[in-house]
Amino acid sequence: MIIAVDGPAASGKGTLARRLAAHYGLNYLDTGSLYRAVGVAVERSGASPSNTDAALAAARGLEIEDFDDDQLRADGAGEAASIIAADPQVREIMLDFQRRIASSPPGAVLDGRDIGTVVCPDAEVKLFVTADIEVRARRRHAELCAAGVKPSLETVLDDLRRRDERDAGRAVAPLKPAADAYLLDTTKLDIEAAFQAAVEYIDGKI
Ligand code: DC
Repeated sequence: MIIAVDGPAASGKGTLARRLAAHYGLNYLDTGSLYRAVGVAVERSGASPSNTDAALAAARGLEIEDFDDDQLRADGAGEAASIIAADPQVREIMLDFQRRIASSPPGAVLDGRDIGTVVCPDAEVKLFVTADIEVRARRRHAELCAAGVKPSLETVLDDLRRRDERDAGRAVAPLKPAADAYLLDTTKLDIEAAFQAAVEYIDGKI
């Protein structure tokens, strides 16, 4: 079984996807980490994330160890990832890897932006996780503060707004719900309630 979990930044899709993978005994792939790893590699090379040659070289040179890097979770990595993710050739390189994981037994939960629309259009289950941008910003802000980074709420909100616009506005594989996705709005749900709602939907579907 393949479960596609898409949604904007800080919607809670990663936490939800990880829990669903554990619950259904499936592999888990955070596809954002692939784009983050390319973003971090480009920045380390001294190039700008909008330099398409540098992004392509970094994507081609990715190694499995690159996904296990604390820097991947930093906010700058998310921004760099969003920029390089607009490049169709970079996306093409990422596609193979994602589909290989998805098709390995016993199946997988993948979270990202284009899993239900492009990477796994035949996934048995597709969820699109959203929440109001103010709520997402407050959640991300609390996470960052807990990690010792103390940006203003305004900065976090601006960051998310910019990232949503870029991810949803790009020409290739933009962030959008698949036509057959189940929309899960977590604005008023904590993670436990969101998990229960997803399980109820999935159990009814399979
Ligand atoms: O989910 P995340 O915040 O870790 O993703 C970081 C960026 O990577 C996101 O802003 C856009 C890009 N991304 C993408 O284009 N497609 C995916 N399937 C996953 C992430």
